[in-house]
Amino acid sequence: MPSENELSEEAARLHSRLSALGWPMETCRLYAPLTLEINRLKKEKNAVILAHSYQTPDIIYGVADFTGDSYGLSLQAKKTSANTIIFSGVRFMAETAKILNPDKRVYVPSLEAGCSLADAISAKDLRELKRKHPGAPVVCYVNTSAEVKAESDVCCTSANAAKIIKSFPEKEIIFVPDEFMAKNLERETGKKLISWSARCVVHQDFDRGKIQAVKERFPGIKVLAHSECPPAVAQAADMVGGTTDMERYVKGSDAPSFMLVTECGLSDRLRSENSGKEFVGMCSLCPYMKKNSLSQILELLQKPAKEKEITIPASVAAKAKKALDRMFELS
Ligand code: 13P
Ligand code: SF4
Repeated sequence: MPSENELSEEAARLHSRLSALGWPMETCRLYAPLTLEINRLKKEKNAVILAHSYQTPDIIYGVADFTGDSYGLSLQAKKTSANTIIFSGVRFMAETAKILNPDKRVYVPSLEAGCSLADAISAKDLRELKRKHPGAPVVCYVNTSAEVKAESDVCCTSANAAKIIKSFPEKEIIFVPDEFMAKNLERETGKKLISWSARCVVHQDFDRGKIQAVKERFPGIKVLAHSECPPAVAQAADMVGGTTDMERYVKGSDAPSFMLVTECGLSDRLRSENSGKEFVGMCSLCPYMKKNSLSQILELLQKPAKEKEITIPASVAAKAKKALDRMFELS
């Protein structure tokens, strides 16, 4: 049992990060026993917690060892010395960590943490697309299953997609599965991308009209859109890119205010880490990312459920790893 002193210190630590997001001390005090226990078990079991920026702030500031985008977290997964990885993100991210660490145990807190993009295309679909476009190199977005990665020449994330696509001499390239991202990348790279009809349930619904209204109301505001947004939204933004591109832009910009056209978790993170900068609301919650919770993370550390452990057949993992290794080489 933690002492009264330990609980007060933990509550103060949480409050120092979460007060900017409106969390009162009383709430931090309620969470303190849970975060203390998770952090204690993490050490005891030699586990690391990787959290995507779209996770809730109690996970990010309470228990995560590393927070970032899917590319940054895959690099962390590659170099961790922990025996166990708890990937507080969605399933395809945990699968990526497992492919890079076949000998470690990798878990995802919620069985419902899927992704509308990853769930929209199967390896069979991709094989059919390849048959229709022989000779076209295949680039898959990291938001895909291990089986789809295994059918691809190279994987990419929002942080390196344009660079990887441009590295191919071919004019025509298969890029799956996000159709909006493919359109945005066609504009950026000048390549013809053969894609799939999949969309991110969060980013597909952002509206160009709202961006224009906000720009009129807040002079000098910078609008940053994730590359999964519809092309009309991307074209109205000052910057289009991945989660880390947006983070970097905000840190390096003198603009007085920002609108992040993406999942709310990133706006929360940047609001908490960039005091003095104003963030104008235009975000939406990812129903999959938000399925993870501190209590599920605690359960994984206390008594890991077999079905939450990521397993990938060795033959699939070996092929998928080639696509990931090529991404690291080209990034
Ligand atoms: P990032 O690669 O920018 O982390 O994005 C992953 C994702 O799922 C965006 O919706
Ligand atoms: Fe998938 Fe969109 Fe959620 Fe990202 S935000 S995990 S792309 S559904």
